[in-house]
Amino acid sequence: MDYQEAVKFIKGKIGNTVPEIAIVLGSGLGVLKNDIQNKVVIEYKDIPGFPISTVPGHAGELIIGELSGKTIIAMNGRFHYYEGYDVKQTVFPIRVFSLLGVNNIILTNAAGGINLSYKPGDFMVVNDHLSFFAESVLRGKNEDEFGVRFPDMSEVYDREEIKKMKAIIEKYTGVAREGVYAYMKGPCFETPAEIRALRTLGADSVGMSTVPEAIVARHCGMKVVAISCITNMAAGVTENKLSHEEVNETANRVKGQFKEIIKEYLKE
Ligand code: HPA
Repeated sequence: MDYQEAVKFIKGKIGNTVPEIAIVLGSGLGVLKNDIQNKVVIEYKDIPGFPISTVPGHAGELIIGELSGKTIIAMNGRFHYYEGYDVKQTVFPIRVFSLLGVNNIILTNAAGGINLSYKPGDFMVVNDHLSFFAESVLRGKNEDEFGVRFPDMSEVYDREEIKKMKAIIEKYTGVAREGVYAYMKGPCFETPAEIRALRTLGADSVGMSTVPEAIVARHCGMKVVAISCITNMAAGVTENKLSHEEVNETANRVKGQFKEIIKEYLKE
């Protein structure tokens, strides 16, 4: 894939600015945009090689600017495997960020709660993931310029950053969850039997994103922190049927807290 064309295009818009940290904004979590100062907004459709995001609730733009005194590059809208892309295309932006000099990334997502003590509206810091139901994003010829053929995954999510993030979430919401995120390909929500199986396997939350991005970010040596916004209880936990509307409603309800959490995290 031609990452360099995209890098050149973005550099043409931001000059020699090197973003210190990348942020991927999950479903309904695009609220940060208004707080980003001195921003340059680039639509995905204008960037060579970028896929175009197709989900309602997901915008499709890159925002480069300042937040809490840091230079950030934010993805307002991300790419999902279920949209029909090859999984490699979904992580194209992450590798572009790496080539732009980004060493830190915050991944955010909306997720279903599998852990029975969770409630919609909770924030969970991801401390590990399950992804063995999906094709590896690193399948195929290794791209040696980014990382090794067999990358270690014993600490995908940085332990120090998990601690920092949890403390901030607790300060703003009163309760910080920490757990294992199960990656499912979607687009249908899981069945109750699948959720029971995932719980038995040790999952606390479930969603359709983040893991391919986290793997590729680790592959190229970035420090990764990920947060799930628990937007609904997973299938079968309650009598309720699941819907994208509920996901967006909950994300909408807690977006103010989300914004404060990210802003405070960036200050540190
Ligand atoms: N399952 C999968 N993905 C999700 C869910 C869920 O329950 N909620 C938000 N994204």
